[in-house]
Amino acid sequence: PKVILAYSGGLDTSVILKWLCEKGFEVIAFCADVGQHHEDFDAIKAKAVATGATKCIVTDLRSEFVSNYIFEALKCNAIYEGRYLLGTSVARPCIAKEMVRIAAEEGATYVAHGATGKGNDQVRFEMCAQALDAKIRTIAPWRDAEFIESFKGRSDLLAYCTKHGIPVDAKPKSNYSIDENLFHTSYESGVLEDASATYEESMFKMTVSPQAAPETSVFVDVEFEKGVPVKLTNKTDGTVKTDPLELFMYANEIAGAHAIGRIDIVENRFVGIKSRGVYETPGGTLLRSAHMDLEGICMDREVKRITEGLSNEFARLCYNGFWFAPEMDLIRHSITYSQRDVTGVVSLELYKGNVIVRGRVSPNALYNPDLASMDIEGGGDAFDYNPSDAAGFIRINAVRLKTYAALRAQSQTE
Ligand code: ARG
Ligand code: SIN
Repeated sequence: PKVILAYSGGLDTSVILKWLCEKGFEVIAFCADVGQHHEDFDAIKAKAVATGATKCIVTDLRSEFVSNYIFEALKCNAIYEGRYLLGTSVARPCIAKEMVRIAAEEGATYVAHGATGKGNDQVRFEMCAQALDAKIRTIAPWRDAEFIESFKGRSDLLAYCTKHGIPVDAKPKSNYSIDENLFHTSYESGVLEDASATYEESMFKMTVSPQAAPETSVFVDVEFEKGVPVKLTNKTDGTVKTDPLELFMYANEIAGAHAIGRIDIVENRFVGIKSRGVYETPGGTLLRSAHMDLEGICMDREVKRITEGLSNEFARLCYNGFWFAPEMDLIRHSITYSQRDVTGVVSLELYKGNVIVRGRVSPNALYNPDLASMDIEGGGDAFDYNPSDAAGFIRINAVRLKTYAALRAQSQTE
């Protein structure tokens, strides 16, 4: 039988590749280009084939990832547990979709991955794959009793490579597990498992430290059309980007150079385990701040309140692997609808880890300076806003509060 293996060229997936061959599978390696930094895909292809794959397919998913996944998340300001911008979570459905497409094209009924049995990624890959093709079967060696028995630690994996002539990277294994894509780089496990221990500065790939960032600010404009970034202008040096992929890469570049988007958190995995992760999401942090600001000027208060709830739900569903779920379709359509008027330009200053909003303008602004003004009585003819009406507004809103206070005063309980 044929199996499509999500392959990175690293130690684990190289061992898995060979192990699947030994099990009698025809292995087709698949490597998604989601914007890993400095990845040598030719070397990965060569290594896959040398290890026993009949072929290695590399798909450039970068534009697809930016437009249909990253921008979808930014459109609703998605954030998990108030801090994590979902850099890995949002990439999984994009990769799984391509993997399922290749499986169909190659006539394979199996897909395999190197995610562990303790994490989120196994759930995301498999839930997405099953949603897209009911007949697909998954092989997860890290959940296979025989595989786990054979490979108890790194030394077993290395011995297996020696035995089968699988080349092992000359550079020593890093002290943590890294997941890289255009949206973010994540660092977990290894030395980071001690949640009280801090990380080394040299770990980061996309951002500099605030201390190393320039002493001078850079000023940028981000233009949005219906909630999607369409133009990024560096007003300091005149650079302009409009292509979605180029725009996003440039956002990473300037935000990374100004130390924006690092976090160190303990989060809750779907499987119930708490996990410590360090993330850098420079461009995403910049664009999310800009987008939220633009909503401030052109989104209705009650629409905002409802989309905040949807955003929270979007983050949870995305994190938990429900990208291709019916409720996710509903949310994404609702969010898109909510963005009809979210068009305009936000001006930002980037300085030593800070995204500082400096102004915004929208052709669809609901903001009315005359109405808001402390210096102007009323708000012009169209609004009929009479400040003296506010006294009644306050009294009526206070009815519940007075009733409640009276109950508390005579109640036995606190
Ligand atoms: N904890 C993050 C998440 O669940 C990052 C996962 C990183 N994955 C990895 N295979 N290193 O989205
Ligand atoms: C893994 O367990 O394979 C990586 C971490 C995660 O998926 O949460």
